[in-house]
Amino acid sequence: EKGGYEWFMLKEIAEQPQAVADTLLGRHGRDGLLQLDEMRLSDDELRNVDKIVAIACGTSYYAAMVAKYAIEHWTRIPVEVELASEFRYRDPILDKTTLVVTISQSGETADTIEAIRYARQQRARVLSICNTNGSTIPRESDAVIYTHAGPEVAVASTKGFLSQLVACYLLGLYLAQVKGVKYGDEIARIIADLEGVPAGIQRMLDDGDEIRKVARDLAGSRSILFLGRHVGYPVALEGALKLKELAYIHAEGFSAGELKHGPIAVIEEGLPVFVVVPPKGRDLLQKKIVSNIQEVRARGARTIVLVEDGDDDVVPYADHLIRLPRLPTLLQPLVATVPLQIFACEFAAQLGHDVDQPRNLAKSVTVE
Ligand code: F6R
Repeated sequence: EKGGYEWFMLKEIAEQPQAVADTLLGRHGRDGLLQLDEMRLSDDELRNVDKIVAIACGTSYYAAMVAKYAIEHWTRIPVEVELASEFRYRDPILDKTTLVVTISQSGETADTIEAIRYARQQRARVLSICNTNGSTIPRESDAVIYTHAGPEVAVASTKGFLSQLVACYLLGLYLAQVKGVKYGDEIARIIADLEGVPAGIQRMLDDGDEIRKVARDLAGSRSILFLGRHVGYPVALEGALKLKELAYIHAEGFSAGELKHGPIAVIEEGLPVFVVVPPKGRDLLQKKIVSNIQEVRARGARTIVLVEDGDDDVVPYADHLIRLPRLPTLLQPLVATVPLQIFACEFAAQLGHDVDQPRNLAKSVTVE
């Protein structure tokens, strides 16, 4: 059943090229337009949407964070991102032009279900991104985009997350198409880039020995930090969450821009710091993060740098370098997350932990 892998988690990490390809499958009509079959909301309803609230828990919440960057950029519709457990206990402003997007692998997360019920009472439309056919969340939603990751058995989400990212991108591109905003060359290019992603993920798997070696080198660490910016920030949060869940050590993700507002104080000699470097672009983010890497290294951090092919600016400041295939910034999480998953898995296995069934955790969180 584990297909020759020692852990379900390793099997599910290895299935990611397929999970991404399957989630993309059949979305692209002959006319070059996207089609989302289970999208039960009409184009008119979607054109009226003036605000999106993306709601989820845990890893799925990090997918929602990525969705904000992508959807706002492509559609110019404002997107708020909120933890389901916070959303339902405040007094959120919703009405019939608000689209609530919930993201859930299991479809049974109690807080997310309650958030949907609340949103529908307020007359908001609810679209769910979900991996489990017939589960409560899609049944209670107005519309669904199913991710096609296949069943996830390991408690820690991996292929579920990558397929959620794909669904979020598809939703953003679809809304842009419906609204007629910016639907031009850029979006056609993004779709072509998405189609190349399974091969990029496969390459990260094939190169996995490097990151496994880093995990063995760092196996005694009691604390590890993760830095990112833009969509690399939720990737950093996800890297830290995987490590907390599986290895039971202190792990924390930060936005690299926040370093000097506090977190840099915890940097000390030998502290491992992962850094996700955005692609070099017009927005100077890459330059800013290179200087963040220099800052932490000057204070003794041991840096593990994830950076795209061909960017050598960080080489002098990287104790370990993990290469990523080149992709537009917004899509980089699809490849940058993979070595962080492999790292957490290997690191926890080194400590002798049960990777598939971490202590204190359940696969579906059906109670609050
Ligand atoms: C992390 C993890 C959890 C879930 C969270 C939401 O590896 O598995 O953080 O992501 O409990 O679960 P779903 O997506 O099923 O609503």
